[in-house]
Parts: sequence; structure tokens; C-alpha cells
Amino acid sequence: MKKDLSNIKKAKVLLDKKHCVAIPTETVYGLAANAYSDEATLRIFKLKRRPKFNPLIVHYFKVKDLIDDCEINNNFKKLYNRFCPGPLTFVLKLKKNSKISRHVTNGAKTLAVRFPKSFITRNLLRSLNYPLAAPSANIYTQISAVTKNDVKDEFGNKIKLILDGGRSKLGLESTIISLVEKPEILRLGAIGINKINKVLKTNLKYSKKKKIIVSGQSKFHYSPGIPIRLNVKKPFYDEAFILIQKRKYFDKNHFYLTKNRNLNEAGKKLYKTLREIKKLKFKRIAVQKIPNKGMGQTINDRLRRASKI
Ligand code: TXA
Ligand code: MG
Repeated sequence: MKKDLSNIKKAKVLLDKKHCVAIPTETVYGLAANAYSDEATLRIFKLKRRPKFNPLIVHYFKVKDLIDDCEINNNFKKLYNRFCPGPLTFVLKLKKNSKISRHVTNGAKTLAVRFPKSFITRNLLRSLNYPLAAPSANIYTQISAVTKNDVKDEFGNKIKLILDGGRSKLGLESTIISLVEKPEILRLGAIGINKINKVLKTNLKYSKKKKIIVSGQSKFHYSPGIPIRLNVKKPFYDEAFILIQKRKYFDKNHFYLTKNRNLNEAGKKLYKTLREIKKLKFKRIAVQKIPNKGMGQTINDRLRRASKI
């Protein structure tokens, strides 16, 4: 069901009782719980089998709801006005008297926040008197979920409710920018760095070599659990071959992210395709060269991490 409005009340009841509910967003599905509750946020870590040191993103309806929890600054306002609600996550200074559960931040003095765009999730957030901590709705290190069925694949019936918002529009996680000190891109994502640079009048770059402080930056992630080779011209006979440009001949091992190098379309299909290939029990994957610009940069980032198994 595209507009799962009838279930929003049910979701609220479960969340009020400190349970987890899966929610749609424009990037990927999230596994949500009351960000002010220790009991609720602990459930997220348990369900996801995620190590406790890895902090969670908190999802808000409006800035007004955020100001009790975080310090905001001019750069935040500029980016918020341009991109929110939307696929951008801000890391901000946590206020001392914030009600955010200590499990969300693992005791750190910063908080990652986001204003998701999904109609259903915004309606849900508006109905609650707390924000929602929500990491991607997948088992730790596995492929993120972009449909209700993907979430079911990951968790079976361990989650009491999955709100259905249809397929996630963008299909790749949000871009993360830290605004705690000088702006710094922590994760490539659905918004290109060039767009951020335009708004901030900066020249930020993403550095792969940065020390690993968050899991989305760890080398092993987003993984279908089988080897992936990148920049391949000719695949081996037993490889699933991921392509972005139509070939003259058909092969059942071919999986198109797009047929005409449309990188936004490719981004949207990436996780769906990896999941499909895994289900078909291929033992290895080869990927055609993907240009390292726009969404291509984010796709390459995810593939590189997924390939380190
Ligand atoms: O698009 C998204 O961002 C999705 C949807 C559900 O909103 N969420 C998502 O969450 O991708 P998750 O937990 O899978 O990835 C969030 C990343 C993690 O790598 C985490 O380590 C990092 O954000 N993170 C969370 N809090 C942070 C903080 N205070 N400072 C730096 N990184 C942080
Ligand atoms: Mg994730």
C-alpha cells in the first residue's frame, strides 16, 4: 500500500510503548524507536545486532523540535533551508540538558540528526512527542532495505510493524555532514558534495583516508556477503555482472542498474540489485566501470565497501 496512513496510529501506540517500528524514508527504510528512551533505543541495537559504540541518527519533524537537543548554527540553517526535509544528515553539538538517550550517542557530545521526506514518516513524527532514533533497517553490515519486503527479509517477524511507503525514492543513504567545527563530509550519500559546496560557498571534499569514526565509513559494509570486483570489462562465466550501459547481447547473468548511464536511476536500483543477486545465489559479482561523479561517487563508495569481505 503506497500511503499506509491507517497504520500510523498503530505505529504511535507501539512506539509509545518503547517498541521498534520500521519506517519508510526517501533514502532507505529505518528501524525506529523513541530517541529519548533507553529501553527503546537498546532494542534497536539488539534487533540490528549492531555494536553499541556505533551511534544512531535521530529523525525530527521540524527544527523547533530539535533546539532542545542540539546547538544549531548558520551553516545548519543554510543547508536546512535548501535541502530539508531531505536526504541530508547533520552532526551537531549535543546540548547538556538534552533528553536524548545515552545509547543513541554512546556518550559522545555530538548528535546526528535528519529530517526525512517520506509523507508517512513525517505524519508519524508529527504525532509523537519525541524524535525517532532510526538506523537503516538491516542487520549490521548487510544491505540496506528499500522496500517493506526487504525489511521483512532482514528481520522476519521480529519487528511488530513495518510502515509501507513503497520503494524508497532515492535508494541510497543520506549524505552526512559534520557542522560541529569546520564543515566536514563524513559519508557520501544522496546529496552530491557539489550541491552542498554551492550553498556553503566552500570547496569540501570527501577524504577516503580519514580515520574511521562511524560505521558507514568502515571498510566492510552494505555487503551482500560475496566478493565483488569493480571496473570490470569482461566478467567470468559464473559472475553476476552489474552494468550501467546497454549491451547488444542478452545474458541471464546481466543486471542493469540503468541502460543509459543514468546515475540517479543506478543509485536507486543498487541495493535492490545486490539483494536480487544474493537471492539467486551467485557466488561472486563483477561491476562495469561507473563514472565517479554525482551519484556515481556514492555508488562507487558503497560498492568498494561492499567488496571488502
Ligand atoms: O539515510 C539515512 O541516513 C538512513 C535513514 C534511515 O535515515 N539512516 C542510516 O542510518 O543510514 P545508519 O545508522 O545506517 O547510518 C548512520 C551513520 C552510521 O555510520 C553512524 O556511525 C553515523 O551515521 N553517525 C551517527 N551518529 C553520529 C555522530 N554523532 N557522529 C558521526 N557519525 C554518526
Ligand atoms: Mg546502515
